[in-house]
Amino acid sequence: MEALRLSPPQTLLLRHKDRVTQTPFVGSHITKKCNLPLIRVAVSKPTAEISSPTVTSRETDVVSSSFAAAPSAPRKKVPANSLQYPSGYLGAAPERSVDEGNHDVINAMGYLTNILSSKVYDVAIESPLQLATKLSERLGNQIWLKREDLQPVFSFKLRGAYNMMAKLPKEQLERGVICSSAGNHAQGVALSAKRLGCNAVIAMPVTTPEIKWQSVERLGATVVLIGDSYDEAQAYAKKRAKEEGRTFIPPFDHPDVIIGQGTVGMEIVRQMQSPLHAIFVPVGGGGLIAGIAAYVKRVSPEVKIIGVEPFDANAMALSLHHGERVMLEKVGGFADGVAVKEVGEETFSICRELVDGVVLVSRDAICASIKDMFEEKRSILEPAGALALAGAEAYCKYYGIKEKNVAAITSGANMNFDKLRVVTELANVGRQQEAVLATVLPEEPGSFKQFCEMVGPMNITEFKYRCTADKAVVLYSVGVHTVSELEAMKQRLESSQLRTYNLTASDLVKDHLRYLMGGRSDVENEVLCRFIFPERPGALMKFLDTFSPRWNISLFHYRGQGETGANVLVGVQVSKSEEDEFIHRADSLGYEYVLVNDDENFQLLMH
Ligand SMILES: Cc1ncc(COP(=O)(O)O)c(C=O)c1O
Repeated sequence: MEALRLSPPQTLLLRHKDRVTQTPFVGSHITKKCNLPLIRVAVSKPTAEISSPTVTSRETDVVSSSFAAAPSAPRKKVPANSLQYPSGYLGAAPERSVDEGNHDVINAMGYLTNILSSKVYDVAIESPLQLATKLSERLGNQIWLKREDLQPVFSFKLRGAYNMMAKLPKEQLERGVICSSAGNHAQGVALSAKRLGCNAVIAMPVTTPEIKWQSVERLGATVVLIGDSYDEAQAYAKKRAKEEGRTFIPPFDHPDVIIGQGTVGMEIVRQMQSPLHAIFVPVGGGGLIAGIAAYVKRVSPEVKIIGVEPFDANAMALSLHHGERVMLEKVGGFADGVAVKEVGEETFSICRELVDGVVLVSRDAICASIKDMFEEKRSILEPAGALALAGAEAYCKYYGIKEKNVAAITSGANMNFDKLRVVTELANVGRQQEAVLATVLPEEPGSFKQFCEMVGPMNITEFKYRCTADKAVVLYSVGVHTVSELEAMKQRLESSQLRTYNLTASDLVKDHLRYLMGGRSDVENEVLCRFIFPERPGALMKFLDTFSPRWNISLFHYRGQGETGANVLVGVQVSKSEEDEFIHRADSLGYEYVLVNDDENFQLLMH
C-alpha cells in the first residue's frame, strides 16, 4: 500500500464527476466497410500562432489550482461501453463516400512531401523493425515490431514535437515554447527544446509523480505544476502561450506533429522487404495513426492501417462510428499514454478518410503483450506501448490470418514500475494461460479431498478455501491449460454436483475479491462501490471526510496501480432512506466510481 498517503488534501478538486453504474457488455456492432479510400487529406492548418514576446526564466512552481479549464465547443458525450465488439474484430470502419463535399481537405501530397523532408532525425533515430520470432511462430504470421520504445526518450512522441518546433521561424523559437502533458509528449518537447536551444515550459497537473516532472526538468525544461487535471494544465499553457508569445506545442492535433509521427510509416515502408498485410497503431488523440496513414495509404494503399484502443478508452472508434468527434464520458487510465477523452480535429478527419478500422483490446490482453515483448526482446513496454501488439494478436486470431506480414508499433517504454505488479498478475490471464475459478462444496467430511481428485492433473497456481455453516467455497487459479482441458475439468466437477464458476473475466474478482475471499460477513445495509482513487497525497482523507463518521465503513480494499490511481473496493453501511444522500456525496467527491452491490461474484465469494 505504498501509494496510500494519509496527509490532508493540498488542492481543491475541480474535476467534474459523473456517477456510473455497471453496464453489461454491449454486443458486436457491425459497421459498413467501403473499399480503399480516396485520399483527400492535406495540411489544412497553419503552423502555430504567436503574440507578444516575453521569455521567463527557469522555475519550478506549484501554481495554486484556481485555474479552470477553458470552455470548448460542446461535443456529444458518450460512454465507452456504448460501442463494444469482440476483441480482434475490425470495428468502427469508417463509411466513405466518394463525394462528401468536405472542402477542408485538399490533397495528401502536402503530408507526403512534408513527411519525406521531415527533420526528425536531428533528434530521433530510425528505429529498427524487428521480427518477433516466438510470437510469429505462435500466430503463424510474421509479426514485425517497430521499435519506437528505443527512441531517446523511450517513445515516438519526440518526432512530432521536434518536427513542429524545428519548423518555427527563429524569432518565434526565441520566444520559447509551452505544452501541457504529464507523459511522453512532455519529454519529447523538453528534449527537442534542448536540441534547438530554446526555452520550454511544460505544464503538468499537480498530481504528476515527482519522477516524471523531474525527468522533464532534467532535460532543461521549466516545469509548472498546475491544476488537478490535464484540462486545467492545458488551459493554463494556452493562456500563458498567449501572454508570453510562446508557441503552444499540441500533443497530437497539428499538421506538423502529425507529419513528424508520419515518419514512422515512411520508415516501415522502407524497411519492410515483403508485402505487408497491416500496420497496427495505438491510438490516443490520433496523431501517430494519422501520420502513418497519411504516408502509407499514399504509397502502399493496399496496406491496412488499423488503430488499436483499450475497451474503456475508445474515443476514436466511437468518433468514427458516429461520423463525428464525440467525447468520452470517462476514460480508462490503465494505458495512460492513450487515455484521451476526445480525439483531434485534424487527426479525426485524416482517420475517417484513411484508416481501415479500430480493434479493441482488454487490460488483460495488454498485460499479456507486455509479457510477450519481455520474452521476445527482454524489453518492458508501457501499456500504451504494448497496445498495438495486443491488437495485432487479437486480430490475427479473430480472422484466422495466416502467413502474412503484420507490423505493430511498440510505441513507448515509459513504464511506471509500480504498475508492473498488476501487469504480472494479469499477463497469464490475458494470454488465457491462467483461469480464475470458484467451486462450491458441500460442507461434509471428504468433500475437499474429492474436489482435489476432480481437479486432477491441472496446475493450480492459487488456492483459497473457506467454509461456512453449510457450504464451502474454493477460489483457485489454474495455470497453463487448453480450453478443452478446462472444460473437461469443469464437467468432472459439475457431474459430481460441485458447482463451478469461471470468474476469469471479472475485474472485481481479479482486483479485489481473490484477496478478500474468506473474510465473509453478512453486514446489514452494505453499499458496495469500486472507486478509482487518484494518486495524490490526501486522497484517502478526502474520501473519509466525505463519508465518515456519518456512515460506517464495513470493507476497504486498496490496490495501487502506479500513477494512474488505485482500485479501491469499499463497503459502506447506508440505510435505505439515506441512499440518495450517499450517492450525492459520492458524486461530489469527484472520484470515479461504480456501484457493484448486485455483483453475483461478490455474493458467491463474500457471503
Ligand atoms: C506510448 C504511447 N503510445 C501511443 C500514444 C498515442 O499517440 P496519439 O495521441 O498520437 O494517438 C501515445 C501518446 O502520447 C503514447 O505516449
